[in-house]
Amino acid sequence: MDILRDRFPILDDYAYLVSHSLGAMPDDASEELARYALEWATRGVQAWSEGWWETSVTIGDEIAPIVGAPGGSIAMMQNVTVAEAVVASCFRLHESRNRVVFSELNFPSVMYLWHNVPGAEIKQVRSWDGITVPTETFLDAIDDRTAVVALSHVLFKSAYVQDIAAITDRAHEMGAMVVLDCYQSAGTLPFSLTDLNVDFAVGGSVKWLCGGPGAGWLYVRPDLQAVLRPGLVGWQADADPFAFHPGGITYAEGIWRFLSGTPNVPAWYAARAGYRIVREVGMETIRASSLIMTQQVIEMADRLDIPIRTSRDPDLRGGTVTLGVDDEQRVVTQLIERGVIVDGRPGAGVRVGPHFYNNHDDLNRLEEALKAALIG
Ligand SMILES: Cc1ncc(COP(=O)(O)O)c(C=O)c1O
Repeated sequence: MDILRDRFPILDDYAYLVSHSLGAMPDDASEELARYALEWATRGVQAWSEGWWETSVTIGDEIAPIVGAPGGSIAMMQNVTVAEAVVASCFRLHESRNRVVFSELNFPSVMYLWHNVPGAEIKQVRSWDGITVPTETFLDAIDDRTAVVALSHVLFKSAYVQDIAAITDRAHEMGAMVVLDCYQSAGTLPFSLTDLNVDFAVGGSVKWLCGGPGAGWLYVRPDLQAVLRPGLVGWQADADPFAFHPGGITYAEGIWRFLSGTPNVPAWYAARAGYRIVREVGMETIRASSLIMTQQVIEMADRLDIPIRTSRDPDLRGGTVTLGVDDEQRVVTQLIERGVIVDGRPGAGVRVGPHFYNNHDDLNRLEEALKAALIG
């Protein structure tokens, strides 16, 4: 708790408890953006051959240790939606194997996308309480017609942690592939994509990675990279992009073949400041401080008689605690007026997401502001 707090300017002014939505900006991000501007200003077009072109993969390598992936397995993308679309473009869905299984608690973009994939038959797994999706329900939904299981590691409304290893084992037994959305786990939960053995993973940098927008990413299991033939590709995915040859693509080696067009250099420079500070603190330390603070938020909710819509079991809880208040937007607005930044989601409540840089004062301010908002 209270780790490297002085490197996050916004913490001087607010009890900033919304890292499941937009992580605080580390001050190094300003330097990275200035570095980008300087390179553009002084090196011009030469900057492409001096590192910019490769940022699609070199910046992904900076995420890899955080999510337990080897170097060369992560490509940068614009956002999760685009990364998931690249995954979808690897499949040619036929009647005998065209089912896509996901839970109704997935982030909507992922669902919208798969609903629009030609030939996909959607099998939506229900949640009985709006908080969890029992592993058994998932296992039962996967059969020999399943092509893809689109999982969320930590559910965005409730922070429930899915049993990815069990679901992945079942998917593989049935000949299906798994794409894991790690947006709400990367940067707050220690895990290893290699150990989870998922086929693909997607994520972004806006939240716990403190990297800001425009820095989505795609992981493809190394042994699959040479076998897959993504349809959503551009010249960065070609083996010889500067030959500008007409006709079909000649796929590049490795993770490069999953890329599209010009890299989003400024966003990725800014984002690496976040990855570096997350690595500096370390995932085990981040998780330990998160568990202490989320437990304290739960105890506070109990004192104020607010139901929680997050698991009390630390093993099933990501970085957020969702407070079950019905008029969440009113409460959020009143909290923000008191300098306590949180957010709300319909049907869930007020989400409180402490990160390593938060401290007891932030949680005390939250409690006082909640008392005022709820009791008056
Ligand atoms: C689990 C999860 N997936 C995806 C997203 C966002 O997707 P995108 O990067 O396409 O905006 C969010 C939140 O914004 C999320 O919580």
